[in-house]
Amino acid sequence: MITGYHLLALSITCILFIFVFLFYKRGKTKKAVILHQFMRLSFLGVLATGILLVPLMPFSLARGAKLLFGIMSLGMIEIFLMHLNKGDLTKFTTVSFIVILSITILLGLFLPLGIYLRF
Ligand code: HEM
Repeated sequence: MITGYHLLALSITCILFIFVFLFYKRGKTKKAVILHQFMRLSFLGVLATGILLVPLMPFSLARGAKLLFGIMSLGMIEIFLMHLNKGDLTKFTTVSFIVILSITILLGLFLPLGIYLRF
């Protein structure tokens, strides 16, 4: 149940991120800033549902890592967009952003709640 809300909040964040990214990239700063604020609101949804998922299963190192990487991903989204807006985005920032986000998504998918990838 909460898993569904976590994924819903993530999807909203993801869609808003795509628009904010495109607007900043095309120099439409005003539109980007407005949607950016809405995206920050959706961050609260991701954070709240993520925290609510924690007590559903016994705590483990991987779940602790998911928590940390989840919070770091939200931070990286902000850092990435801030540099994009300022026009001083470096390859290092972009790569760290993609790596941290990928680890978060993979950890989420390998962990027992939600869509559990079994190999
Ligand atoms: C951009 C940020 C994030 C991404 C891309 C992400 C992605 C995911 C995905 C794909 C899942 C698996 C599906 C599910 O169970 O809902 C998941 C589960 C989870 N997420 Fe996130 N998440 C993010 C942020 C957070 C945050 C901020 C927290 C905590 C504060 C968090 C905590 C959790 C927990 C505890 C689970 C369940 C793990 C388990 O199965 O034991 N996530 N996340």
